[in-house]
Amino acid sequence: MISLPGPLVTNLLRFLFLGLSALAPPSRAELQLHLPANQLQAVEGGEVVLPAWYTLHAEVSSAQPGEVPFVMWFFKDKEKEDQVLSYINGVTTSKPGVSLVYSMPSRNLSLRLEGLQEKDSGPYSCSVNVQDKNGQASGHSIKTLELNVLVPPAPPSCRLQGVPRVGANVTLSCQSPRSKPAVQYQWDRQLPSFQTFFAPVLDVIRGSLSLTNLSSSMAGVYVCKAHNEVGTAQCNVTLEVSTGQ
Ligand SMILES: *[C@@H]1O[C@H](CO)[C@@H](O)[C@H](O)[C@H]1NC(C)=O
Ligand SMILES: *[C@@H]1O[C@H](CO)[C@@H](O)[C@H](O)[C@H]1NC(C)=O
Ligand SMILES: *[C@@H]1O[C@H](CO)[C@@H](O)[C@H](O)[C@H]1NC(C)=O
Ligand SMILES: *[C@@H]1O[C@H](CO)[C@@H](O)[C@H](O)[C@H]1NC(C)=O
Repeated sequence: MISLPGPLVTNLLRFLFLGLSALAPPSRAELQLHLPANQLQAVEGGEVVLPAWYTLHAEVSSAQPGEVPFVMWFFKDKEKEDQVLSYINGVTTSKPGVSLVYSMPSRNLSLRLEGLQEKDSGPYSCSVNVQDKNGQASGHSIKTLELNVLVPPAPPSCRLQGVPRVGANVTLSCQSPRSKPAVQYQWDRQLPSFQTFFAPVLDVIRGSLSLTNLSSSMAGVYVCKAHNEVGTAQCNVTLEVSTGQ
């Protein structure tokens, strides 16, 4: 194999891929790329494997001697498409935190992404182009899956709005600055005795709890829990109800 500088290889492959996809109708292709998941979810800070593999003549067996896969994984970020990993002429090039699960050559092209961030959400495309030992093209395929990186709620802040006197109204508010998807809120009084709250005094979307006509028996430690499908975070506020002016 001749080794070529990076941009040239990329252009050459783009050309090759275009040529092949134009020549070979998909129904006749011997090569099939399998991406079993259309959509995957993962959690920020964690890792995920995007499963992908190809078969030749409908066989899953491992790559044969002389079988040369050219592999590229792309990520489409809003407008621009970015190459996150390539395996070309035996050389793997990748962005930080991105790797192939299996050492090449392999028919399993699964991609591992580590240290996930919310902005890693989006479509990932795997493109493979296989040549046999005679340098003959066995086919090309490209497939896409969607990754959704979820974010556990960031610690919320709890606040007391109003002056807590007997007979007055106050609002306890709770706000988590970041989460995906949006959190729902729950308010409970923990001390001196447990009490939980429901709509209409509780607004689960905004995180506010309305306490009206305060009495000294409503004093205590109020805990707000902000939760979504990947986590929970909480804060609390102590309500002291004063009598008189
Ligand atoms: C390829 O690897 C992925 C991730 O390890 C795995 O889930 C999948 O079953 C493998 N495919 C085959 C055909 O072995
Ligand atoms: C407290 O709220 C209730 C019901 O929302 C209202 O009728 C009442 O006037 C309020 N009291 C004060 C002191 O604002
Ligand atoms: C407020 O609470 C006191 C006793 O806790 C009660 O006597 C009064 O009727 C209440 N006021 C309203 C407007 O509900
Ligand atoms: C209230 O919050 C403080 C600090 O955030 C924590 O140390 C304390 O344990 C909490 N109290 C309750 C009852 O959750």
